[in-house]
Order: sequence, then C-alpha cells, then structure tokens
Amino acid sequence: MQKIHVKPNNNWMNDPNGFIYYQGAYHLFYQCFPYNARWGRMHWNHVISKDLVHWENLGIALFPSKTDDRSGCFSGSAVEEDGKLYLYYTGVNYTVENPEDINLCLDEQFVSAQMMITSEDGMQFDNIKDKKTVIPVIQNSQIGDARHTRDPKVWKEEDGWYMVLGSTIEDRKGRLLFFKSTDKEHWDYVNSVSKGEEFGWMWECPDYFEVNGKQIIIFSPMGILKDGKADENQAICMQVSFDKKNCRMELPDTYQFLDYGLDLYAPQSTVDAQGRRILMAWLRMPQPVDGKWQGMMSIPRVVEVKNGKIYFRVHPNIQNVYTKKIDSPKEASDAGYRLRFSLQDGEEVNVGGYRIFRQGKKICTDRSTLYTAFPQFRTEFATPELADGFNLEVYVDQNLIEVFVNEGEAVISNAVYQLGNEIKVQGNVSVAIETLE
Ligand code: FRU
Repeated sequence: MQKIHVKPNNNWMNDPNGFIYYQGAYHLFYQCFPYNARWGRMHWNHVISKDLVHWENLGIALFPSKTDDRSGCFSGSAVEEDGKLYLYYTGVNYTVENPEDINLCLDEQFVSAQMMITSEDGMQFDNIKDKKTVIPVIQNSQIGDARHTRDPKVWKEEDGWYMVLGSTIEDRKGRLLFFKSTDKEHWDYVNSVSKGEEFGWMWECPDYFEVNGKQIIIFSPMGILKDGKADENQAICMQVSFDKKNCRMELPDTYQFLDYGLDLYAPQSTVDAQGRRILMAWLRMPQPVDGKWQGMMSIPRVVEVKNGKIYFRVHPNIQNVYTKKIDSPKEASDAGYRLRFSLQDGEEVNVGGYRIFRQGKKICTDRSTLYTAFPQFRTEFATPELADGFNLEVYVDQNLIEVFVNEGEAVISNAVYQLGNEIKVQGNVSVAIETLE
C-alpha cells in the first residue's frame, strides 16, 4: 500500500486517467509503459483508494488489443451510469511499424480514434470483448486532425453527455473539439474553439467543469513556453464562457499556470465523495530514480474560484493525516513530512537544498543545487504577485516538494533528486514540522 503520492514501483508513469469516485472508492488509472522506465506503447495501470491517502495497486487495466489501439491506449476519462463504469480513451495506431522500436512512432505516421471500454464493477476490464471505437479516425480536417486528436474528457449535463477532445489546426494552433451524445456511444461533433499560435500548437488533456458558479477549462498546450528549457508543454487554466446548447466556448487572452513549478502536467479532475471538484496531475521527472521508476502523481487538490482567481488547495484528507509533530525531517515517516510557516520579504527556508523564499509579493523556489545533472531543465520558479498573504504549507517527499501558498492561491511543485534532511532558516521564521502517525 502506498501513502500520499502514487508512484510506479517500476517503469514509467505519465498522465492520470479515468479518475472517479465509484462505488465507495477512488479509482485512478494512469498512463504506463510496463516494460521500462521510459515512454512507449501505452497501457493504463489501475490504483484505488478509500481516502485519497492510501493507494492499492491493482495492476494493468487497459492494454493494446484492437487495431485502433494497437500502438497505445492513450489518455482519457471515466463516467458512471446505473452502476457501470465507462472509460473513454484514445486508441493510437502506428500505420508504419518502426523496425528499431515498435513502441515508438516513425515520422508521425499514426492515426487516433476515440474508444470506450465498459466494466460492470470497475475491477474487471475485458480488453477483447468490452472495447468499442466510438469516434473513428477523423477524416475531415475542418473538424479535427487524424493524428493529433486525443484525450476524451466526458461529463454529464441535463441534456446528455458531453465530450471535449484536444486537437490541432495543421500542427500550428491548438484547438478543442466538442461532441455530444445521448447514449454514450454515438457522438455528434458540435463545435470547436482555438486561440493564437502563442497558445501552443496542440492542446492535450482538456477538462471542463464548473466550480463556485464559474465555468473553467483546463488544458495542456504543447509548445507554450519557448525559452529553450524543458519542458515547453505546460498545463494552464482559465475562466471561460461556455454556451452548452451549441458548445460555443470563449477563451480569455490570459491564463494561470496550474502549478508554477512547471513540472506538473496533464491534470484530470473529478468530484469527490463530498462533492468537491478535485484534481490530480502527473509530475514530470528528468531521469528514473535508482534506474527503476520515473513519474509521480501530485497530491489531490481541491479547485475553487476566489477573488477572481482559480485556487488549488491541498485536499483536506491529506492535510488531516499529518498529525505528528517532529523536530527534524530525520524523524519523518517514509511518506514524508509537512512544513508550515509564513515568510516576510527576504526570508528563506532551505529544505535539504531546496530553497523557498519570498521576494516582494512573490514566493520563489530554487532547486539548482539538486539539479546540476539536468542543465536543460528549469531550476528557479516564482508565483505571480500574491494578494492573500504569505502562508506556506509544504509537502515534502523524497523526490517531490509541493509548496502551497495561501490555501492554494498559487502552488509550486518540483521534482527533486538527492534531497537532504536538514532544514535551514534565514530570518525570523518559525517552522512547524509534522509527519504521519
Ligand atoms: C500527455 C499525453 C497525452 C496522451 C498521453 C500519451 O502527457 O501526451 O496527450 O494521451 O500523454 O501517453
């Protein structure tokens, strides 16, 4: 059983998929390549939890088995109806085999179809009998791209089922495609939305929902940060106006990063047992740990809109298990520890080599001494100017630090390697250290 962070024991993890509270448990699937600590022909691995704190690994749920998904079961989402679980995902088919590595595509020669698999109990998945292609490869380029159209997020509204897909216009501009269905199997294309080239060339992993009466879209544009550093692809969010009748969405000109640590990607939301909108996301890492595994899931976060901004605060189930006060990280449990403190301008807390400090109205972090092996990766980060104070809640695990400021006004999450176990303070900062019982 894993606690707090979902990580693969071996091999590769990327996007969270099919996240749902279903029949009394949270089900989370994720993109995995079960043969090596690198990306390849995608499968869905399955983990479940009663409380979002303890996670049990149930192994592979989806694997390539049809012509349409022979080269990978890409990202997607889950819905429930009448006790049955429906998973939607993108089937990828490499139209030419790469003789040197059949798990990778050769020269972009692939097509994508949208698929569905059903399960009576959310535990058994029959990859031969229960899969269906629900949106075949799109042939009309006016509607979408035959290759880069993926990551179905499905949800229910009063008049039926909605699906949003990420896509591109000629590999130049990202766009979202909206489909509707009354039976979850037959889908009609309704509308699309896009923006200028400065918003990236392909939009991955879209997610639409409403919270505090506001309409929100999240997506992960490829090529949005062109500063020559890894990674160019980043998850963003914005408040939109969405007319459901004709699926007309208007996107503003500005956006928030979901996480200012810029390692987080491909978030997916669902509704928790208490009706809160929550999400989890993939934390990208430059290299496998101990040569064995690569990729982690974030702590689940609650999404809210306050003061015109989208907030991402720590899920209370996580907050509530850090009950044991300790004097030093050396006394922490294997799942790590939490720090709580507030910062005046110029003050700093150094967590085993990871610097967290305040500069004016921003909280900043610096992992450069822990990232000397990865010169192509960013090492210094900052929140936008904050309005709600400078109160920090920092969740520390061996390879991941998540800094929540002001109950989620901004978050900085960073992958780290060889983190030390000393806390050093500059200024008059008093730091509470807490771990799990
Ligand atoms: C995002 C993504 C998705 C795709 C999946 C493949 O990280 O590229 O668009 O479905 O990963 O693993």
